[in-house]
Amino acid sequence: MQKLKWGMIGGGEGSQIGPAHRLGAGLDGLFEFTAGALDHRAEEGRAYAQRLGIPADRSYGDWREMLEGEKGRDDRIDLVTVATPNATHFEITKAYLENGFHVLCEKPMTMTVEEGEEIVKLAQQTGKICAVNYGYSGYSLVRHMKAMVARGDLGKVRLVKCEFAHGHHADAADAENPRARWRYDPAQAGVSAVFADCGIHALHMASFVIGQELKQLSADTVSLIAGRKLEDDAMVNMRFDGGAVGRLWTSAIAIGRQHGLTLEVYGEKGGLRWAQEQPNQLYWTPLGGRVQTIERGEANLSPEADRTTRVTIGHAEGMPLAFANIYADLAEAIRAEQEHRAINPAANLFPRATDGLRSMAAVFALAQSGASDGKWVDARPPLFR
Ligand code: NAI
Repeated sequence: MQKLKWGMIGGGEGSQIGPAHRLGAGLDGLFEFTAGALDHRAEEGRAYAQRLGIPADRSYGDWREMLEGEKGRDDRIDLVTVATPNATHFEITKAYLENGFHVLCEKPMTMTVEEGEEIVKLAQQTGKICAVNYGYSGYSLVRHMKAMVARGDLGKVRLVKCEFAHGHHADAADAENPRARWRYDPAQAGVSAVFADCGIHALHMASFVIGQELKQLSADTVSLIAGRKLEDDAMVNMRFDGGAVGRLWTSAIAIGRQHGLTLEVYGEKGGLRWAQEQPNQLYWTPLGGRVQTIERGEANLSPEADRTTRVTIGHAEGMPLAFANIYADLAEAIRAEQEHRAINPAANLFPRATDGLRSMAAVFALAQSGASDGKWVDARPPLFR
């Protein structure tokens, strides 16, 4: 079977997220890295793309040139990943969807709720896939948690607790460093800092696993380092549409925490605990029973988990393989469309534009609630009220 053709915008040399996308897209031999506009500096981007093996005529200087170059080709790319800085996501995603490309956009998908609604509608109108890279939802044991909830192992979910709390912006003496400062400046970052950057991953994962959407939230947002206009710590209480209660802590000043993404789900019949930094173990406690360790790679966990594990049990799988699972889902979705058949349900789990929109509505709800002493506010986008 011919490989699908994949292109990337952003993710240039030295970028944080580019290598994880390349590893993820390349892992299963489903995609060939065919085109790229990898850097905001045209010549550096072209040169790096060629060093990565992309032909010269498809190593582009910027995303508009790539769009012009690709849209007229018979062998144009099947999927484009947008891995540029946040403020460019909307414009690039919109342009590629309008020209009939499938898109995987980095989070946040847009900077406003209105833009998010536009992308959701555009994806519906064009029939093209618009996925959003909540890549942690690709972890095999996260998929298994979702499967356990869906098949009723926990009974009704009562409570979900999640965190994305790190300590990488905790140094007050370094607060003016340009690499950190822009994140707390509303002119560049929008209405929220750490929640928009990190908290939305935890929220997406909670919602993904319990199969419920966020309805309302109440937030305590603070800037614990002087001079910051946007929050570097937030505690968020949540209500989901299926009746579950949620607690979310996100922080950038939690010294000693590295990544700090965790998820706990408590139902009538048992509880689950998982942490991104030890992603190969899931802790399950049935009501009245002992803690059990579920290992990634155990046979016959669930179709969703079995499909998304590759390395033998006891050998760690990490974040680029979680991204690879998102790419494998997308390859299956694209093939299903090409072959006019239904998608494998175990692959139909990749995060979509609707998730990107819901996140953006939550970001604005957090800002509104935080500014009014934690008032409970509707966190749904107007499109879904
Ligand atoms: P970065 O600053 O490390 O790299 C950005 C890259 O994009 C650079 O190579 C730069 O030259 C390139 N670039 C900038 N403007 C461009 C343009 N107009 N056209 C083409 N290339 C352009 O940024 P990082 O950390 O890699 O983040 C990129 C995006 O990925 C952000 O939106 C961020 O939120 C997201 N991200 C997502 C993560 C996830 O877990 N899903 C984790 C980390 C980042």
